[in-house]
Amino acid sequence: MTISDQQPANEASPTASRRETILSGMQPTGALHVGNLEGALRNWVRLQDEYWMYLCIVDWHSLTAEFESTAGLKEKIYQMAVDFLSAGLDPEKCAIFVQSEVKEHAELHLIFSMLITVPTLKRLPTYLEKKERLDSYGFLGYPVLQAADICLYNAHKVPVGKDQEKHIWLANDLAKRFNALYGKTFVEPEALFTEIPMILGADNRKMSKSYDNHIPIEYTESQTEKRLKTFFTDPNKLRKGDPGNPDKCPIYLLHRIYTPGASESIAPHCRSGELGCVDCKGKLAANLNSALRPVRERRAELAKQPDFVWDVLRTGADRARARAQSVMEKVRDRMKMNYRKKK
Ligand code: TRP
Repeated sequence: MTISDQQPANEASPTASRRETILSGMQPTGALHVGNLEGALRNWVRLQDEYWMYLCIVDWHSLTAEFESTAGLKEKIYQMAVDFLSAGLDPEKCAIFVQSEVKEHAELHLIFSMLITVPTLKRLPTYLEKKERLDSYGFLGYPVLQAADICLYNAHKVPVGKDQEKHIWLANDLAKRFNALYGKTFVEPEALFTEIPMILGADNRKMSKSYDNHIPIEYTESQTEKRLKTFFTDPNKLRKGDPGNPDKCPIYLLHRIYTPGASESIAPHCRSGELGCVDCKGKLAANLNSALRPVRERRAELAKQPDFVWDVLRTGADRARARAQSVMEKVRDRMKMNYRKKK
């Protein structure tokens, strides 16, 4: 792999060429929430200055669950792109694009599907967990498509949550297998785990739109305050005065992100009982709202410029495609399947 292959096609700065590449992906679930913002987006924003970044909105992956409700996909993709930009992702620094606009993902998926066995895929925890879902060919192949997403850009690092560990391992394994069979072609990608603790929602489960326990970024400040009032707290702390356990409380988890010095200003006062849950939630609402204010302001601005958002996605796909095509050219060369080439 030459150095120029490592960077987006429209980047030519000599110092920049030493940067490594990052790829990450997210299913288009629509407008994002505080869990996505703190668990993924803020991390991506930090990384965009150090790496070449490709951020893929994986609409084909979402078909595994949503093949019967594709009509809503376009709006979900749009809302997600708006939140990416609101969070501070800079389209000059990273290519934000929709997976299905770069057909090479499907081509590499097909080739990778030959290098892996069905029993290996059936042993993956993500497959075992969701067995109640329609056991489609596409769903079984979900991690193979993910491996293609990653290897198609020769990504060195993949920032993901721990739940994706086995998928990144599989991408690494497929890259190795391909390299061993046909000669060194792919970078062997590695996971870059996010350190943020898992963010819990109103019902004390993982914050997720599908559980409706989330705080959308697009909420107003008063909607946020109202939502926080519904949050689970330590069930043993029934009224102000009762000692509580912050380590069992999703509100405290959020304080650790949004309240500087929470281990001194919140935790001991919850434990002693002197800080009641109502006041504690009020403090969090104030801090969370002020942290989200710039993000929400950008969101309001972007909402007025849908053409700009679609343009970002178009440009992102063009950059991604250029890179993907050069890697696939190499793949076909290595496999001796570039039939039209003279030698
Ligand atoms: N499987 C990932 C998830 O559910 C989404 C994803 C698809 C992804 N392709 C990817 C993540 C490539 C990282 C890299 O979160």
